[in-house]
Amino acid sequence: MEKLKIEGGHTLKGSVRISGAKNSAVALIPAAILADSTVTIEGLPDISDVHILCSLLEEIGGTVSLENDKVTIDPSKMVSMPMPNGKVKMLRASYYLMGAMLGRFKQAVIGLPGGCHLGPRPIDQHIKGFEALGAKVTNEQGAIYLRADELVGARIYLDVVSVGATINIMLAAVRAKGQTLIENAAKEPEIIDVATLLTSMGAKIKGAGTDVIRIEGVESLHGCQHTIIPDRIEAGTYLILAVAKGDGVLIDNVIPQHLESLIAKLREMGASIKINDDQIFVSKVRRLEMVDIKTLVYPGFPTDLQQPFTSLLTAAEGTGIVTDTIYGSRFKHIDELRRMSANVKVEGRSAIVSGPVQLQGAKVKATDLRAGASLVVAGLMADGITEITGLEHIDRGYENLVEKLMSLGAVIWREQMTKEEIKNFQNS
Ligand code: EPU
Repeated sequence: MEKLKIEGGHTLKGSVRISGAKNSAVALIPAAILADSTVTIEGLPDISDVHILCSLLEEIGGTVSLENDKVTIDPSKMVSMPMPNGKVKMLRASYYLMGAMLGRFKQAVIGLPGGCHLGPRPIDQHIKGFEALGAKVTNEQGAIYLRADELVGARIYLDVVSVGATINIMLAAVRAKGQTLIENAAKEPEIIDVATLLTSMGAKIKGAGTDVIRIEGVESLHGCQHTIIPDRIEAGTYLILAVAKGDGVLIDNVIPQHLESLIAKLREMGASIKINDDQIFVSKVRRLEMVDIKTLVYPGFPTDLQQPFTSLLTAAEGTGIVTDTIYGSRFKHIDELRRMSANVKVEGRSAIVSGPVQLQGAKVKATDLRAGASLVVAGLMADGITEITGLEHIDRGYENLVEKLMSLGAVIWREQMTKEEIKNFQNS
């Protein structure tokens, strides 16, 4: 088991290339189950969630070859194997196996998903959608059982705008008979990416990226080649880092339109940001103004950037309120930031940040993926050494984090934990 060590205070300079989007990848890989021939996906991030999903597809009989950033999946010999336990529990996105297997085999057994603990994360809207398409869905001892004689298109209104439910219903509906209408659908770029892959496989989907998606079911789907979109959350994390500690940082391979809400907030704080096609350049910032943020569904401020953004706010002048309307208890990073001398307190669904404060290096723990990102930002901003445990969370979402940051001039390295440290970590 390793920990991450950061010697804070160094200036970041140079360029960093953004990897493929984690939250697309974790849906695109299961989507390949729906095809009858080989699907190739390029630009994948080298992160643990991708490796786990590829091995899950192998467990059900797929032939999967993952080399560098490209995966080739031959789904022709896949079978509807029940997966109530094991690796499915290691990541939240294993719920996409439900929609994809239901679409292809009309049945699936999938253990309830794991992933980051951000408070309650129900999947009732996914299930509502599957049931509307004609599936019988039961929860037996922590696994979801889905079975349908046939799937028939339906009109489905999502009570909560959900990325996962929108994609999962799309995965099943592309193989249903007739038309499905998903109303109050989520509009995240990852949904468009999945719809693009499915369309290349022969699906008929209109309206992805708007709040009404129309799907005309088809008899079969074929293989195709697809290139994933860049990860807007990874890009956003580097943008935040560049504003915090940069003196000329170029973020390459990014779709700037996906980050409008973040860029607007960073500019409000005084950042100088230049946009050029698929690149964003951040100049040195002299003084940071405090702002409030409220996370919202896309195109609002993303909840996944709330935690790293909060670290940046500790260096701004004044008092700011960070409200998370998506996950009201996504604030486990705050206790850790306080260990680093941040002046932050949580009140209900909000964190109240007062600054500026010079953060101090400390021993801290990443409790979830983006909490980990917030501690990396804080560690780079802090005086002295910061030690971060819980790296398995960070490895789920950031490809080559250490190498990318070192290339920008950060002093950061991984170190083996001692037996004593592992014991303390496991008991904490
Ligand atoms: N919700 C329900 N019922 C449902 C589904 C969702 O009440 O059936 C609620 C959730 O509890 C939450 C809100 O709706 O309050 C939005 O949840 P959503 O379903 O959109 O989230 P998700 O699909 O489970 C994805 C990302 C998350 C990201 C959220 C919001 C993946 C694998 N995960 O989760 O990413 O925070 O959308 O944008 O795509 C991350 O990358 O760190 C991460 C957690």
